[in-house]
Amino acid sequence: MSERSTPRTIPIAAGQPRALPLPVQAFAAPAVADRPLQDQRQRPLRDLRISVTDRCNFRCTYCMPKEVFDKDHAYLPHSALLSFEEITRLARRFVDLGVRKIRLTGGEPLLRKNIEALIEQLAALRTPEGAPLDITLTTNGSLLARKARALKDAGLNRVTVSLDGLDDTVFRAMNDVDFPVESVLEGIAAARDAGLGPVKVNMVVKRGTNDDQILPMARHFRGSGVVLRFIEFMDVGATNGWRMDDVLPSADVIRRIQQDMPLVALEAAAPGETAQRWGYANANGQWDRNAGEVGVISSVTQAFCADCNRARLSTEGQLYLCLFAGQGYDLRSLLREGRSDEEIGNALSWIWRQRGDRYSELRSLSSTTGSQRPRVEMSYIGG
Ligand code: GTP
Ligand code: 5AD
Ligand code: SF4
Ligand code: SF4
Repeated sequence: MSERSTPRTIPIAAGQPRALPLPVQAFAAPAVADRPLQDQRQRPLRDLRISVTDRCNFRCTYCMPKEVFDKDHAYLPHSALLSFEEITRLARRFVDLGVRKIRLTGGEPLLRKNIEALIEQLAALRTPEGAPLDITLTTNGSLLARKARALKDAGLNRVTVSLDGLDDTVFRAMNDVDFPVESVLEGIAAARDAGLGPVKVNMVVKRGTNDDQILPMARHFRGSGVVLRFIEFMDVGATNGWRMDDVLPSADVIRRIQQDMPLVALEAAAPGETAQRWGYANANGQWDRNAGEVGVISSVTQAFCADCNRARLSTEGQLYLCLFAGQGYDLRSLLREGRSDEEIGNALSWIWRQRGDRYSELRSLSSTTGSQRPRVEMSYIGG
């Protein structure tokens, strides 16, 4: 049998048990239930990222390289996916435990059929204080022009659009499916018009590939109301051929922009935020709010694990406590085994209390460049 005819599975953690075990006591009421929920490093749970599909219509070289994600790649069958009702049931328990922001991701989340119905269900959730959640979505923008209005009507608050350059040739090469930049810009405009703002644009920077796009992107979005963020290319997953040489440190990104447009450092908008914010300065060296801001996300050169409050739910209902984790907890089994809401809530609380993950911090402390242990793909748990 040729290697090609064997259906390949997503390289989650080859050779290891698929899910982390949950002991019996995880389902019992926690003895410390009256204390605020914190993990082993005193981090609360605030942000839940839900991947709604493992498919994408792009083949970004740093995320779903064509050679791996080809026509023989085995995607998850529909029955393996969490249903919208299952997602919402879990989300409700997460909100009880402190989650205040939900981000839908993929793959490309707008490829999931009738995603608006899920957004409606999530938008109806309330915190224990009766407030709605911040519901947001990360997209490659390819379907946004068509869908922005319906997403807003369903209750989505805002979107983050991935865009790796303004030059059409550079962008087509990075998405590797020859998708034109113009269509993504139309998607961004449609999102703004629909009120899905403030729209954020994420650009992954690869040295020598698209770093010549930093200044054109900064100039284009300056003063537009769109918040542009530059992301250091990360060693996430196991298929993107990551090398430290390809990383352009955020400090260099800021230096390059500063040479053209002066910047001033801004305070973080929320605790545990991924991006460091910089505002465009006026002639007096103060932040010119009309010109707006840019951000840098420096997972490689300046780890931000110390207050990481993010949990990730994969397309098939595995809970990952870190973007770089090799294994997750199988929440889908809990749902399909008929566990009660109370048992599921207790299990989530147990899982979070024993969390100690801080991959990026450990990588910066070690002398090696990147870990060799199996890691889940980003297209499977979402950014
Ligand atoms: P906002 O609330 O819109 O500011 O969202 P965010 O910055 O929390 O989320 P977004 O999904 O826009 O994150 C931007 C990028 O940061 C992702 O695409 C990832 O590349 C990276 N990122 C997000 N969360 C983490 C994390 O927990 N660890 C690491 N290492 N990188 C992350
Ligand atoms: N490094 C940094 N960011 C990545 N993303 C995907 N793969 C990587 C990587 N290797 C981010 C991009 C994309 C989002 C879905 O995930 O921001 O826009
Ligand atoms: Fe698709 Fe986003 Fe991954 Fe690109 S980065 S392949 S758009 S999921
Ligand atoms: Fe959080 Fe893991 Fe990212 Fe650190 S590396 S910020 S612990 S997801």
